[in-house]
Amino acid sequence: MTRTIKLAVIPGDGIGPEVITEANRVLDAVLEGGDVQLDRTVFELGAERYLKTGDTLPEDEQRRIAEHDAILFGAVGGVPGDPRLKQANIERGLLLKLRFDFEHYANVRPCTLFPGVESKLADPGNVDFVVVREGTEGPYAGNGGTLRPGTPAEVATEVSVNTAFGVERVVRHAFETAQSRPRKKLTWVHKTNVLVHAGSMWQRIVESVAAEYPDIAVDYMHVDAATIFMVQDPPRFDVIVTDNLFGDILTDLAGAIGGGIGLAASGNINPDGTFPSMFEPVHGSAPDIAGQQLADPTAAILSAGLMLDHLGLSAEGDRIRDAVRADLASRGAQSRGTSEIGDAVIAQLPQRGA
Ligand code: IPM
Ligand code: MN
Repeated sequence: MTRTIKLAVIPGDGIGPEVITEANRVLDAVLEGGDVQLDRTVFELGAERYLKTGDTLPEDEQRRIAEHDAILFGAVGGVPGDPRLKQANIERGLLLKLRFDFEHYANVRPCTLFPGVESKLADPGNVDFVVVREGTEGPYAGNGGTLRPGTPAEVATEVSVNTAFGVERVVRHAFETAQSRPRKKLTWVHKTNVLVHAGSMWQRIVESVAAEYPDIAVDYMHVDAATIFMVQDPPRFDVIVTDNLFGDILTDLAGAIGGGIGLAASGNINPDGTFPSMFEPVHGSAPDIAGQQLADPTAAILSAGLMLDHLGLSAEGDRIRDAVRADLASRGAQSRGTSEIGDAVIAQLPQRGA
């Protein structure tokens, strides 16, 4: 029997549409001849749409997106400094709104240095870890405000929100992730020496969940120290779990270590399946190179692979990763366009069941 997956596609702005085109071509190729088909709906959202119509994320569109099984997301954001976008804050109104409203509490960002890919590090060793970044709380919650704006006495607060419920669910997901990996190691990262209130709650929750996973080795690192270890000894990491903002920063660093942000994939996961999860490359819209076939679609393609894993199609996800691995290994110094890389990955797809 054929299984139909309802896929919402949000190509977005800048290089988003170009890289999503390639991710979709790879998805079609990997599913070809199988019993899974994709039923896609494209949602034109982002800065461009906002400039045309004034809409960021209309309620009825959000409701329709919610009816899908998964979301493939490119990138959003217009040209930096465009005064017409100042009011809008598309990132908050669209990307973060989807993450928050769809309970994408586990923002999963793998960092693998594939063979043949040059790292910025001289001697990186075997880099293969995954960051589970909390996705719905922390300083991203939007809790704060200003007083006396524009005056010398201006006050601005940005309150980090941490709930026991929210921390426990992401910590639990990280333990499950560690359980599924051979090394069974979890590092939780915070700043408990300074952020004592949230830090103490995170610590108690990690300790209590850890008791249920006796075979996972757990350690702790302050976030500042974690940046040093990530550069000096990335192989020491297996699974990292951390707060939303720490995770944002650490995963850009991880992107650089893993061969560049053009290869960095992510999944905004709702592990409970109450809303569709959303898969997106970590890079942004890069308006300076948009429309020129200069963007590397690998991060988007790998994100599509994560999507297949999440949908229970990990054999197909593995075939995408194998194809990317083969492409990267043979890439050398050649410079290729966006769709040429898509072609090359498709050509490297292993046979089904091979
Ligand atoms: C990311 C991005 C977003 C974030 C921005 C665009 C809101 O940097 O996905 O890492 O901060 O989460
Ligand atoms: Mn970021």
